[in-house]
Amino acid sequence: MSKIYKNVAVWDARRSKAEFCDVEVEGTEFRTVAPAGSLNGENCFDGKRRTAMLPGFVNAHGHASMTLLRGLGEDLPLMEWLQNRIWPVEDRLNKVFVKAGAKQAMLEMLSTGTTCFADMYFFMDGVAEAVLETGMRCGLSRGMIDDKDGEKLRDNIKLAENFNGAGGGLVSVQLGPHAPYTMTFYMLRNVAEVAISKRLGVQLHWLETKDEWKNTSMSGTMTPEQCLENSGLTRVKQLVLSHCVWLDESRLGFYKKDNITLVNNPKSNLKLGSGVAPVAKYLKAGIKIALGTDGASSNNSLDMWEEMRFAALAQKGYFMDPVQLKAEEALKMATYAGAQALGFDKCGLIKEGWKADFMLVDLDSPQYMGWNEDNLAGYLVYSGSSKDVKTTVVNGKTLYECGEFTTLDKEKVIAEALSARSEMTK
Ligand code: NI
Repeated sequence: MSKIYKNVAVWDARRSKAEFCDVEVEGTEFRTVAPAGSLNGENCFDGKRRTAMLPGFVNAHGHASMTLLRGLGEDLPLMEWLQNRIWPVEDRLNKVFVKAGAKQAMLEMLSTGTTCFADMYFFMDGVAEAVLETGMRCGLSRGMIDDKDGEKLRDNIKLAENFNGAGGGLVSVQLGPHAPYTMTFYMLRNVAEVAISKRLGVQLHWLETKDEWKNTSMSGTMTPEQCLENSGLTRVKQLVLSHCVWLDESRLGFYKKDNITLVNNPKSNLKLGSGVAPVAKYLKAGIKIALGTDGASSNNSLDMWEEMRFAALAQKGYFMDPVQLKAEEALKMATYAGAQALGFDKCGLIKEGWKADFMLVDLDSPQYMGWNEDNLAGYLVYSGSSKDVKTTVVNGKTLYECGEFTTLDKEKVIAEALSARSEMTK
């Protein structure tokens, strides 16, 4: 049976302003998007012109199971934090723990309006199982570090064979070479070859810190862009480059390609002292930009509302110019751009025939006083917050509504994650 959402203010990335609509969802898709007042039916939600319907957020870069490591060692230098606080604990990870951490992350993501997330980590079949049990959409990759014998690449290929397209298309699998400073050129070339032959996307950390390139085995022999070109990574189906704080601004034109998306991670970059990626300039160069939180231990939240606001405010401050990165652009980065980056077709807009991934936002609270169809995007980005999210729907299925999860047992998920964390940190 279809469901009708009446009198909702619809905003998505192709609209210059919101519009009051009636929206019919049937199965996994939006069946009809029509002006308010035109649809009726038995199974009906009335938004009463004080509810917004937005495409679900797509968290385009993260490590979901790092919810287990949140708060371990704060305010430390990056390498000290990684070497002394994070890596020793990660050594004790197993599939059960990773699955528990991913479910914990999904509680947070669903309750804040995220419908889809990118993930790069270990024991990824645990994340795939968690996602299929929950019903979220995701792009999964196996994080590969120092893969001399190709074992990790084989593991990532197996993940793709087992889960790419699983759950009726909810899961996509990418290859996940960690970063240019943890992989050699030859390893990256192998990854690109496999990605091209198997038509897979690639997720990669890219130029996150100022001196990163100097610490790669390629430094001195090629530029970062030559590495991407010569390895073949520019020819993979989708190349998702996260962070990108320290791109050479004279080479921005290189990144303007249909199959390349850069992911902005403003909070993680600020918290780890990596800097501010000048993404307003990247957007002007015609580069595709999505938005992601990174892992919960370097953010420390998985809340895309905060990420949008930080993204917009950081650009205005960095360029000392309030017109940089407008609210509509931040919303587009948080929704449509991420869905495209992870290879999801017909996903990220509220449009007939597209996937019904959306959230309903309650506009009937004090901070929205004065909103209208023209200014809604600004209200959402600068005054809104995740506590306004009432409902989160993925692939036509309600997964979160008014504090309740339909496919996750919140108490059980938290208890299992806590037990995993205790085991790992004792
Ligand atoms: Ni990351």
